[in-house]
Amino acid sequence: MHVIVTGGAGFIGSHIVDALIERGDTVTVVDNLSSGRIARLPADVDLRQVDITDPDAITSVVADTRPEVIVHLAAQIDVRTSVTDPAHDAAVNIGGTINLLEAARGVGAKLVYASTGGALYGQHAPLPTPEHTLPEPEAPYGTAKHCAEQYLGLFNRLYGTQHAALRMGNIYGPRQDPGGEAGVIGIFCGRIVATEPPTIFGDGKATRDYVYVADAVEAFLAAADSERGGVWNIGTGRETSVLELVEHVCRSAGYDIAPVFAPARAGELQHSALDVAAAERDLGWKATMPIKDGIPRVYEWVANGQPDRARR
Ligand SMILES: NC(=O)c1ccc[n+]([C@@H]2O[C@H](COP(=O)([O-])OP(=O)(O)OC[C@H]3O[C@@H](n4cnc5c(N)ncnc54)[C@H](O)[C@@H]3O)[C@@H](O)[C@H]2O)c1
Repeated sequence: MHVIVTGGAGFIGSHIVDALIERGDTVTVVDNLSSGRIARLPADVDLRQVDITDPDAITSVVADTRPEVIVHLAAQIDVRTSVTDPAHDAAVNIGGTINLLEAARGVGAKLVYASTGGALYGQHAPLPTPEHTLPEPEAPYGTAKHCAEQYLGLFNRLYGTQHAALRMGNIYGPRQDPGGEAGVIGIFCGRIVATEPPTIFGDGKATRDYVYVADAVEAFLAAADSERGGVWNIGTGRETSVLELVEHVCRSAGYDIAPVFAPARAGELQHSALDVAAAERDLGWKATMPIKDGIPRVYEWVANGQPDRARR
């Protein structure tokens, strides 16, 4: 297949680029390099430095390369930025996705969209949360991701396409920039490597559904290969607390360092975990990496100086 990966110079995207090339697909990366890095990419990859908010540029790359699949990860990913600048968040996360849907329509490509589970369902959702739960996002980021998903569904109804949206939990692994909720694992590793105490905001009992990046990559490949369209949670179904993350990092290091506690940050969810029965049933996908085995890999990556081309 020929595949366009938007956001391909980013954390998850660059691992997807590697996986596609490893299995013999050809890849074009679309990335404005706002947070992405060329150093994460294989040397000879076809990279188009284009912004997804530019419809003419996007149409021209897609018409020029004629992909079968577009894996769409380019996004404004910062939840706090979405609160301070919701118009910019919507322009990138909704407007950019519409540009890709329209360009994909021109060549008959299938879109596989990186949506969110963690930032979508809100604090009243049952745990683990199934896909049919009413989304009640706590920030513009989640609202924009949901709106973009709605456009995918609309295009499927209007044009008979089979676009897919993957509602991911908190993805973690080598190549992830610190910051964001799952980036916390890399931050904790950095503190423990430096024999300094990690800082926990709140009491450390807040939970998230952490998914190792190699499992997320497999979910994108499964959705790209599937003839079905739809919306699927991509998680483990398990909650892991912040305190447990610190324990796993200390075990990876082989020594204990007690965390320090800071006041909880406003507006953060207490608990999150995704029901993943539908992805297993429809896509044949299931996460395989337990967090006790995934965190040591991140620890090793941080201890080795965070190389950009680290394997998943
Ligand atoms: N990391 C997670 O835990 C997680 C969870 C759920 C969903 N997601 C989604 O997965 C996707 C990838 O996330 P990530 O963690 O790899 O983030 P990332 O920041 O590493 O990657 C995003 C990439 O998109 C590029 N980009 C940003 N704005 C762009 C624009 N306007 N035009 C072109 N390129 C642009 C950046 O340069 C970067 O390379 C995002 O859509 C994010 O919302 C991530």
